[in-house]
Amino acid sequence: IDDLAQEGVAGKRVFVRADLNVPLDGTTITDDGRIRAVAPTIAKLAGLGAKVIVASHLGRPKGAPDPAFSLAPAAERLGEILGKDVAFATDTVGESAASVVAGLAEGQVAVLENLRFNAGETSKDDAERGAFADRLAELADLYVGDGFGAVHRKHASVYDLPGRLPHAAGDLIAAEVGVLKKLTQDVKRPYVVVLGGAKVSDKLAVIDNLLKKADRILVGGGMAYTFLAAKGHEVGISLLQKDQIPVCLEYLAEAEKRGVEFVLPVDVLVSAEFPDLKTKAPAVCEVVAADAIPADKEGLDIGPKTRELYAAKLADAGTVFWNGPMGVFEHPDYAGGTKAVAQGLLDSPAFTVVGGGDSAAAVRLLGFDENAFGHISTGGGASLEYLEGKTLPGLAALED
Ligand code: 3PG
Repeated sequence: IDDLAQEGVAGKRVFVRADLNVPLDGTTITDDGRIRAVAPTIAKLAGLGAKVIVASHLGRPKGAPDPAFSLAPAAERLGEILGKDVAFATDTVGESAASVVAGLAEGQVAVLENLRFNAGETSKDDAERGAFADRLAELADLYVGDGFGAVHRKHASVYDLPGRLPHAAGDLIAAEVGVLKKLTQDVKRPYVVVLGGAKVSDKLAVIDNLLKKADRILVGGGMAYTFLAAKGHEVGISLLQKDQIPVCLEYLAEAEKRGVEFVLPVDVLVSAEFPDLKTKAPAVCEVVAADAIPADKEGLDIGPKTRELYAAKLADAGTVFWNGPMGVFEHPDYAGGTKAVAQGLLDSPAFTVVGGGDSAAAVRLLGFDENAFGHISTGGGASLEYLEGKTLPGLAALED
């Protein structure tokens, strides 16, 4: 972006692909971390006199307009953060976008409606994606990629559009890559990885790679139950991906072979029912040993002994990468495990990286000071795939 700035962006229409995919409760943004993270890039470009066009996806609408996934609340929040009026186009490549962009003066900012309201954005068909990218390209003179959370997606605005305009990486992408790169090279040991969350199959691939790098892997959250099942334990009605059991067994064996400490919960909080996240009504739950989950109950958080164990395993760490909550942290009765891990990171002398939309939102929603962590990544799948060593389409397109 500084190279672009040197060539001069004043008066130019600069398309900024951001990741404004923030959690919403109706139209209320419950965590604005991703908007705050990209705001400095937008402010920088506007400060240099660019006409800034901000575009993003939000959620997973089905390729057509859907008011539940409107970016209007994010545009409003961006305006508050920047302390200036931000125009909003009610479409992406239609009349509204054309007239809003045409009306931008130097230093002004506009946000386009959700890119995924157009089927071409996420299409697997190169021609369909390319046609949508062509229309986006008409709106701008320059492209800045700064939606780190989406760089693992081969989507029109992430992958195809930079090929059609002079392009650069924004400051957020540069900062994210700068930190995550360090985790793929020399790390201060012991290197402890904490993995949680519910997307078991998404995260198993990263374990394969982490087994070659980490000294210790702590598993919690929805992921843990497939591993517990792989060890032959009853997991009741807990989240389970049966087809992944052989892969889990393979990883447990590989960890042993490599001398990587692979730590699973020793106790869990279980309940017969999933908690009500709207009313947050008190949950009926109990603590059981991880190898004694009743057949009619599901695990919803790591238990007190596991929290102590994980805190101890973090206490001497040199580097920690944490992705994925330990339980249903959105409900106060199941937030204890995630809180304990966040506190464990803060109490350890390690350089700490928190990756993933949910974990990053969790630390803020649970009241932790985000600046106390070494780095909070805006990328969920993106940070994991980066650590996996994969070529990320949105980064490759910018390097080209
Ligand atoms: C994320 O939340 O990880 C990014 O915004 C990407 O969203 P997606 O998984 O819907 O592509």
